[in-house]
Amino acid sequence: MALGSSLVFVLLLSVWLTAKCDQIPSEVCMECRDRYFLIAVDLSFAGNEARFEAIDGTGVYPITKQYAAVCGYSVSVLHLKGNVELRASYFSCHTDNKDDEFFTFSFNLVVNHEGEDVTYALKKTCSPTLPWSPREVTCEANYMEVSVRSDVACPTGTKTDDWNAAVQTAYASANSDWQVMFQKVEEPLKPMELSEARTQGYVFDLTEGRLVFRTPYGQPESFNTEVNGVPVEVVHATLFSRQSWVVLMVDLVAACSMSEGSYDDAGYMVWETPEVLNPYVSGLTNTRVSVGISGELLEQSVAEESGFIVEKHNGSVEISIPYNAEGGYRKSFVSGDLNEYYIFHLYLEQIAVDEDHVDTRLRFHRTLATPLLPRPVFTENRTVLEERVFTIYLGDVPEDVEVSAVQLNEHKHIYKFGHESGHSITKVVHPNNTHGYTLKVPFDDPAVIKKFSKEDEAMKHILEVNYTLTVLPENETFFHLTSVLALSDITPPEFDAVCSESGISFKLDHRPFDYLWHISIGSDLLSPELATQHGYIMTNDSQSLLLEVPLFTHGYVYEDVALKGFLGTFEILIQYQGTSEVQSSTVKTCPFSTAEFVLCSTDGKMTVVADLSLAISSGGIPARSNLLNTHCGPKEADDTRALFSFPLNSCGSIIKLGKEYVTYENEISFSRKVNLQKNPSDSSNEIDRVTVQCTYPLAGLYRLFSFYKFVSDAAGVGNIVHSSLLTEVLQKPTLEFDTVLQTPVPATRRNRPVLVKLGHRLKVPTHLQYLQSLFKVE
Ligand SMILES: *[C@@H]1O[C@H](CO)[C@@H](O)[C@H](O)[C@H]1NC(C)=O
Ligand SMILES: *[C@@H]1O[C@H](CO)[C@@H](O)[C@H](O)[C@H]1NC(C)=O
Ligand SMILES: *[C@@H]1O[C@H](CO)[C@@H](O)[C@H](O)[C@H]1NC(C)=O
Ligand SMILES: *[C@@H]1O[C@H](CO)[C@@H](O)[C@H](O)[C@H]1NC(C)=O
Ligand SMILES: *[C@@H]1O[C@H](CO)[C@@H](O)[C@H](O)[C@H]1NC(C)=O
Ligand SMILES: *[C@@H]1O[C@H](CO)[C@@H](O)[C@H](O)[C@H]1NC(C)=O
Repeated sequence: MALGSSLVFVLLLSVWLTAKCDQIPSEVCMECRDRYFLIAVDLSFAGNEARFEAIDGTGVYPITKQYAAVCGYSVSVLHLKGNVELRASYFSCHTDNKDDEFFTFSFNLVVNHEGEDVTYALKKTCSPTLPWSPREVTCEANYMEVSVRSDVACPTGTKTDDWNAAVQTAYASANSDWQVMFQKVEEPLKPMELSEARTQGYVFDLTEGRLVFRTPYGQPESFNTEVNGVPVEVVHATLFSRQSWVVLMVDLVAACSMSEGSYDDAGYMVWETPEVLNPYVSGLTNTRVSVGISGELLEQSVAEESGFIVEKHNGSVEISIPYNAEGGYRKSFVSGDLNEYYIFHLYLEQIAVDEDHVDTRLRFHRTLATPLLPRPVFTENRTVLEERVFTIYLGDVPEDVEVSAVQLNEHKHIYKFGHESGHSITKVVHPNNTHGYTLKVPFDDPAVIKKFSKEDEAMKHILEVNYTLTVLPENETFFHLTSVLALSDITPPEFDAVCSESGISFKLDHRPFDYLWHISIGSDLLSPELATQHGYIMTNDSQSLLLEVPLFTHGYVYEDVALKGFLGTFEILIQYQGTSEVQSSTVKTCPFSTAEFVLCSTDGKMTVVADLSLAISSGGIPARSNLLNTHCGPKEADDTRALFSFPLNSCGSIIKLGKEYVTYENEISFSRKVNLQKNPSDSSNEIDRVTVQCTYPLAGLYRLFSFYKFVSDAAGVGNIVHSSLLTEVLQKPTLEFDTVLQTPVPATRRNRPVLVKLGHRLKVPTHLQYLQSLFKVE
């Protein structure tokens, strides 16, 4: 908006003689204004039914919409202001006028209270303090009114051609009564009796000192034009009367800017009026403008402070009002999101001085509305991590909007105001007519989503908030969403692990938030029962958890098995309570060097290291030892020990099938073949036999029977029995067998599979069939 054009304000002191309001009844307010009565009725009192009736000596006249425009009344319902307003011109049809100095308006206010009309007969007398100007024009919301001093009612400044045409028409008219001609550009003049003009909505009135002309907008005799780019509606009436050879003529021009105002990018409502309103009246030299709101002019300094800008350029006056200027009314409106608009009741006075120094006073009552402007609310994350509470502030909520519900995450519960199981919402009111809400939700609230974040090594707390906001009084709702996230420093617990000769010890010191974690071994949750079942030794007190896992118990994985030892690995898994996802694990691998051991793998392999020192004393060499199938020799051997590794179903293993267990058994023995090769028939040269066993529960072997492939849910339990030392038992479940089978051995030793029946409790024929099929010699 270009500044710097001539900026003219009129210093104006608005002093009203009369008291502001006659409080009868208290909801009705009557005021004297410059040139009109102002009657304001509270909407709560008026309801939707408030009606006005003008009263004078001749009767009671309901002020309807149409009648108001003709007779000088303007009624509007101002929802934002909260009242119904009636402006009645001092020259309105039924106002009593004493010498243009005392005006009395008598009227009925009819309101509907609980279905019944109640009538209040009211009266107001006003005396304008501002002297009447020679010519005054009021551009009301619904009509234009012109009054001129009757003694200056000679045509001044009217274009000569118009005047001549009017005079000619006047002479041609035979009637000596007053008549009126409406002049419209390019249209023939049509004289009309005043009574006829009255029926068409034009009012002409002669008061003590003034001639009054009033017309509603949009009359057939009006015309719209553009003056310096501003739309203007004009009604040009010429009154005349021919008395013998004298023609009396009065020229009355009502012209008003019809600018609807526009909204500019800088946030101003802009309204325009031409400096010279009537293009058909020339010679006006100077224009002064004062602006105001709601029918009252503001002093220049006040207007400037409020940000009003009055500029003149290119022959028009431009009034710019900041969208949020004081005196305007704002309203929230939901259109997708939250919007708002502002309404101004602009009041403007324009004083024009012409060459004869006769000034014209123009007054405008115009209602301007901004378009819908976005009015976002905002949310701010005010969370303080240490408090472990989400604090979210929702701000810039306008006065006429309130939060009606809050939804936390996908929780179907709609939380209303107040405190509820830990979370709370409180309202904060600001002096700038906005308010806000502080929402607090503890991290541990059930509504908060918790996820362990591996990369952050922290617990992620996620809260999505869906606020329902309601615009009052229409109850229109919209939603505001926000999402906050906080990382709280929770790492999964970590065990300290220590290797010992006989196993691995795990130790965990308890921390406050460890309840969020589950400890498991494989797929089983660690519990005292599980520990007992698997032979772990668990001690758990308020300080720490100690778990001792003996070697060869459930859960170990073995690698690098050799005579000198092997590696045993045990893993403890940590899962976040909410998900079954494994978040971390403690894995410990320890070297073990046990003199003798048997490993029975889940995929059906027996790995055994046996101490053969007893055999050595009777002349055996470990490297020469073998299994039942003499072709199955050791993988590795030293002076006293040998390592065998072979599939359970091979090397002449004997399979012992019981009700619940199956045991694969083999034997390590020495054949002094090398020394006694020359006497192969000697079969009594086998000494100290070492029996090795793997036992599996049948229940965990279902895949063996459905896929013909050895897969066990758990590792088998190994056992070594020395024939010469029958007491040496490593691990031995108490077993009872129904069936015993042997896998193929070379013909030199046994010709064919042997089936030994031990009892009659054969309840697993499938197993048996399968096992037999395994031993068929190809
Ligand atoms: C004034 O009128 C001139 C010529 O018509 C035009 O170029 C100029 O933009 C106008 N200025 C304003 C502020 O409207
Ligand atoms: C209103 O005041 C509050 C508190 O001072 C501030 O946060 C907010 O931004 C203000 N809003 C507007 C629209 O000025
Ligand atoms: C917000 O809540 C309202 C009412 O419960 C629902 O209709 C809307 O879909 C929600 N919005 C989102 C994004 O969840
Ligand atoms: C808005 O809601 C309130 C309370 O629920 C109710 O009293 C009022 O009548 C409603 N207003 C409209 C316009 O629906
Ligand atoms: C919210 O505030 C917390 C605490 O200051 C911070 O950790 C987090 O990153 C913030 N941002 C979001 C989007 O939640
Ligand atoms: C150990 O004790 C603590 C309480 O002292 C308990 O919370 C935890 O569940 C226990 N752990 C196991 C594996 O039983």
